[in-house]
Amino acid sequence: MGKQLALISFFGAVTLLLPLLCLAQGETDDAPATYIVHVSPFHKPASSPTHLHWYASTLRSLPHRPAAHLLYDYSRATSGFSARLTSGQAAALLRLPFVLAVLPDRRRQLHTTRSPAFLRLSTSSGLWPLSSFASDVVVGVLDTGIYPSRASFVDDSLPPPPSSWRGSCDAGDGFNASFCNRKLIGARFFYKGYEAARGPMNETSESKSPLDTEGHGTHTASTAAGSTVAEAGFFQYARGEARGMATKARIAAYKICWKSGCYDSDILAAMDAAIADGVNVISLSVGSGGFSPAFYRDSIAIGAFGAARHGVVVSCSAGNSGPGPRTAANIAPWILTVGASTIDRQFPVDVILGNGSTYVGVSLYSGDPLDSTYLSLVYAGDYGSRLCIPGLLNSTMVAGKIVLCERGGNARVEKGSAVKLAGGAGMILSNDAGSGEELVADSHLVPATMVTHTSGEQIKDYIKSQASPTATFVFRGTVIGDSPAAPKVAAFSSRGPNYRAPLILKPDVIAPGVNILAAWTGKNSPTDLDIDPRRVDFNIISGTSMSCPHVSGIAALLRGAYPEWSPAAIKSALMTTAYNTDNAGEPIKDLATGAESTPFVRGAGHVDPNRALNPGLVYDATTDDYLAFLCAINYSPEQIAVFTKYEISVNCSDAALATPGDLNYPAFAAIFSSSSDVITYKRRVRNVGASAAVYEAKITSPPGVDVTVTPSKLEFDAAGESLSYEIKIASLADAAASGGQAFGSISWSDGTHEENELQFPAKEELYGIRSAVESMLSDMESLPNCDGSESSLALDLKQ
Ligand SMILES: *[C@@H]1O[C@H](CO)[C@@H](O)[C@H](O)[C@H]1NC(C)=O
Ligand SMILES: *[C@@H]1O[C@H](CO)[C@@H](O)[C@H](O)[C@H]1NC(C)=O
Ligand SMILES: *[C@@H]1O[C@H](CO)[C@@H](O)[C@H](O)[C@H]1NC(C)=O
Ligand SMILES: *[C@@H]1O[C@H](CO)[C@@H](O)[C@H](O)[C@H]1NC(C)=O
Ligand SMILES: *[C@@H]1O[C@H](CO)[C@@H](O)[C@H](O)[C@H]1NC(C)=O
Repeated sequence: MGKQLALISFFGAVTLLLPLLCLAQGETDDAPATYIVHVSPFHKPASSPTHLHWYASTLRSLPHRPAAHLLYDYSRATSGFSARLTSGQAAALLRLPFVLAVLPDRRRQLHTTRSPAFLRLSTSSGLWPLSSFASDVVVGVLDTGIYPSRASFVDDSLPPPPSSWRGSCDAGDGFNASFCNRKLIGARFFYKGYEAARGPMNETSESKSPLDTEGHGTHTASTAAGSTVAEAGFFQYARGEARGMATKARIAAYKICWKSGCYDSDILAAMDAAIADGVNVISLSVGSGGFSPAFYRDSIAIGAFGAARHGVVVSCSAGNSGPGPRTAANIAPWILTVGASTIDRQFPVDVILGNGSTYVGVSLYSGDPLDSTYLSLVYAGDYGSRLCIPGLLNSTMVAGKIVLCERGGNARVEKGSAVKLAGGAGMILSNDAGSGEELVADSHLVPATMVTHTSGEQIKDYIKSQASPTATFVFRGTVIGDSPAAPKVAAFSSRGPNYRAPLILKPDVIAPGVNILAAWTGKNSPTDLDIDPRRVDFNIISGTSMSCPHVSGIAALLRGAYPEWSPAAIKSALMTTAYNTDNAGEPIKDLATGAESTPFVRGAGHVDPNRALNPGLVYDATTDDYLAFLCAINYSPEQIAVFTKYEISVNCSDAALATPGDLNYPAFAAIFSSSSDVITYKRRVRNVGASAAVYEAKITSPPGVDVTVTPSKLEFDAAGESLSYEIKIASLADAAASGGQAFGSISWSDGTHEENELQFPAKEELYGIRSAVESMLSDMESLPNCDGSESSLALDLKQ
């Protein structure tokens, strides 16, 4: 590989650098806002006994001293602090030689069970028993907190927490320290950034404690590491035994999300605490909505880098902004980025029209059924509100009828409640074109079902063409089976190419994220609607927020099986053993189009936990490799210093990878700039099999592209040995003019470890993408708040 990072004295480098300042939105000099201040810790003067003293005295030295107020100090996920500052004070901080960046705080959103069986996890063989169910592993779930009294968090006969555990169980409103046990070993809450931005929280409607009053955090924590619960289900649906992925792993809940969002300053504080407490895996179903910010301005990317340096796996949701291209969030190469797909369980409803046609939808409606008689059917767009916004439907016209509403604009369950409030008898919710064939089940308050876009258009035609259209529903309960085939990628699942680093394929993998059953809070209804009086132990919801904790739990199992593996090795094992065919033996489909998904949609494929236990070869990477990658994407020394804090200094003229595509990543992407382009990447693989082995490459070249690997045979003399190879990706002249994208794969096989498949989207909009990306970047960065997208949390998918 020959790429080495130069270690140079940080003192020498500091004075050369210009730090970054972005103004918070709407900032004026006299209105304080929260800023995150990244600091090189080595400049602490001897006169300050601690970093905290140093930060406090730094703030005291600023002009207009009373306004500056310290919220948090950070020492592991990053180094520095967050504080309330005026823009004048922020600018003054930047003049200090040890300040690396001053970034405005940003708001994020939150992005069975059947899934263990669908993932083929078994108590008698494979990853579960071989990892001891991850009993020594701690999963930190950064989310809306936890509702501790659920059966998923019972500590049935677990031994004491691992001796490395240093966390705490913090009491607060509605949450006592005694609520923690040997399953839920830590519970903390971080609200200073939230209150600084929004004012004091309303303690009647939310709890200033680790208590989950929303439901999302209880759901994700129980998915990652919930104990076995014998009689679970949501009303009559999905009944049976529920289990998390890592049934014996310990949960540490870090509440970072509040009623009106999750703030970067709080997220960083929780990551900092989680690293110090000794978590092994951070599960973060949170991120920006829309296009991802640059890594050096993305607090989750910065904190995740700090976590990776400490050996912590960071698993994140890709976001629910699909199906448009480049929508994936949390796309730094050191993050495990998870998209959402279906499992082989449906909650079907037949919609039978008066003319005899039947369309299959899905629903979790659990109240009284419709009269079996056919009811009048109307289109909401004819009576005030195509989207069924509460208060806009004409109740004279919809009372007693089934109403066809369209998806988008407001929450799906809110459309059902709008129909109910207007006196409607039932609802058909039709997908818009973007959500296509995706069917997301909801526990509506009226008899209701979602149907595909195609079905919805035909039902609309039927309504238009009939003098007195009618319809009825037949609820068919829970159906497990191969039809429709699974997995399929959800239309909402955010997609690649990677908006910030197109040569790093994202998302990494897909995992179950549609109609997932897991534990729920007793403090909120399953629909999150105030008019819904129901309280449930388990709920069924959808989103990449649900797929992320599946992979976090599986990563915990791998950590349990291989305590010495790095986060990159765990990710590599998950990616190279992922599969790409559904249970009908066909390529995994994309629900947005109904067509075959591509690696930009499904990443390396669907996780296969048992195979990940035995990947044969792994593509490892260290912090130094990631820094060499940052050099290769042309980050300036001051941007890179946001990650290193000068603890490691990088001289990019020595250290940079020849191309970002040279990062030792378990996937490839190439962009051709001419029809005769030949692109060469280096890779290094480690034999994690038991002994000597000979691997041979099998290549499926993308159409119009010639792929060769040198050497094509890797002969390992022993376990643990690493060997390098080179991959050459050549555009074939005759195909070049066509443009577009093409995909292939390479698999290294030793006869035992068969299909270590690597996806490589080889041609991506042949001549277009690089300039397109660059112009998008420059548009975004010209914005005064340095960020083109209002960040948003992949809370469960409500719309
Ligand atoms: C929590 O602690 C408070 C104060 O010690 C006590 O009054 C309350 O009963 C406890 N709640 C539970 C559920 O144990
Ligand atoms: C706080 O929340 C409660 C319950 O939702 C509500 O009744 C009350 O009006 C809120 N108080 C304020 C000051 O907003
Ligand atoms: C509802 O529809 C009826 C019948 O078309 C009409 O008379 C009435 O004005 C409408 N109400 C509203 C609020 O639009
Ligand atoms: C019912 O009406 C829809 C819409 O006009 C049409 O597509 C469908 O073929 C009709 N079904 C029958 C059985 O005629
Ligand atoms: C970085 O390395 C180059 C080449 O080795 C050298 O010329 C340059 O002075 C170094 N820069 C710094 C800041 O040390």
